[in-house]
Amino acid sequence: MPGTCVIGLQWGDEAKGKIVDLLTQEHDVVVRYQGGANAGHTVVVGEEVYKLSLLPSGVLTPGVTCVIAGGVVLNPAKAIEELDELLSRKVEDSDNLKISDRVHVIFPWHFAEDRVMDKNTSDGENIGTTGRGIGPCYRDKVGRSYAIRLGDMYRDTFREQVQHNIKVKNSILSAMVPPGEFEPLDAQAVYEEYLAYAEKLRPFVADTTEYLLSAAEAGKRILFEGAQGALLDVDHGTYPFVTSSNSSGVGISSGSGVPARYINHMIGIVKAYTSRVGGGPFPTELDNEIGQRIRDQGNEYGTVTKRPRRCGWLDAVAVRYTTRLGGVDSICLMLLDVLSGFDELKICIAYELDGEQSKKFPSHVDDLRRVQPVYETLPGWHEDLTQATSRDDLPANALAYIQRVSELIGVPVAMVSVGPARSQTITLGSGQ
Ligand code: GDP
Ligand code: IMO
Ligand code: MG
Repeated sequence: MPGTCVIGLQWGDEAKGKIVDLLTQEHDVVVRYQGGANAGHTVVVGEEVYKLSLLPSGVLTPGVTCVIAGGVVLNPAKAIEELDELLSRKVEDSDNLKISDRVHVIFPWHFAEDRVMDKNTSDGENIGTTGRGIGPCYRDKVGRSYAIRLGDMYRDTFREQVQHNIKVKNSILSAMVPPGEFEPLDAQAVYEEYLAYAEKLRPFVADTTEYLLSAAEAGKRILFEGAQGALLDVDHGTYPFVTSSNSSGVGISSGSGVPARYINHMIGIVKAYTSRVGGGPFPTELDNEIGQRIRDQGNEYGTVTKRPRRCGWLDAVAVRYTTRLGGVDSICLMLLDVLSGFDELKICIAYELDGEQSKKFPSHVDDLRRVQPVYETLPGWHEDLTQATSRDDLPANALAYIQRVSELIGVPVAMVSVGPARSQTITLGSGQ
């Protein structure tokens, strides 16, 4: 059975891109199946640093077919920009790409709506979106009336669709945005801009559902690349402080069209601590010197928006929840090198709410806001881990930390990462 999936088990930026790049070498096809250019995956290959938002991280390995499946929302300008950049950097096979004609396309009105809507959650706190039009595009997809899919852009009706949508969107946006802050969109200009994108993307457009079903049936090895993290899942995450797709792994089949029976290996990616970008509760957040130290040592600044990431201790309650939700077999523990130099490290092992301790992850954001983390303290280590290449190179306290994480989460730690490079990865296997 050929399907492996990589998903983030926290609030994104767990270093999924690095692991997808590594695992690509053992696969024939790599698939992005949800999200859009809100993702930012930094992948280091030798001396080269690549930043990918839309193209699967598998694109850096020659001979692999990369697929952007129908569950993705596509910013065509961004896709073209990434393709051009890879071409200019002579990444072989960067055109070995298939983009689903079912993807929903992000238009200028989605960016405008994203800016306005983010300030208007019923909760009162901003979601702090990436501003990439993701939520509004998914909303139109599910609403069906004002959505445009990539396949629509090659039909005679495309001009009319743009005209119809812009009329409605201009009136909605004018009503929502303070006078003078919104310049109505010009239908002809948008139509021409997007027609040019459609022409450039034409060679890549395909029925990827059909392609992936045939690939799965033929026994090809398929790697599904999750974007964001499970706690940002629209149905099972920290709603409403989430993204608008199923980023927990429950979205693989709906986003790609590949039935669950072909997916037999779930790999969870976990940072050795926690980071979060944007609003929403974060029980183990360290809004202090320790948090700043982690931010500095881990270079925790967003790939997409450059925002400083909020940092805190590892939250085993949250990760145990997302491990179970994703049916995860094993995890990769990332950025362990960043925790060097602390005398003590803490891991959240339970939440206290209204005087009671629990290991359950709350379903309502108000409760998550009120929980107090219960910590276990472990001894830290001062050795630099970045040159470690095997288990034997790791200090005893680092090994004890890995072991404890595995016990608390309930699955083995199969790999440990001690730096951005491919070589800075230690395989532990299933025996810890
Ligand atoms: P993704 O969105 O999950 O792919 O993660 P990002 O690329 O947004 O963030 C992870 C960052 O950590 C990237 O800059 C990686 O190059 C970097 N990185 C990956 N693994 C390690 C590691 O083990 N140690 C350190 N220090 N950095 C890492
Ligand atoms: P990768 O794939 C971290 C966060 C945003 C915001 C919320 C909603 O690099 O891990 P959106 O623009 O999706 O409507 O924003 O989700 N967010 C991410 N945080 N990593 C990401 O992707 C993210 N994609 C979205 O900061 O809080
Ligand atoms: Mg990222």
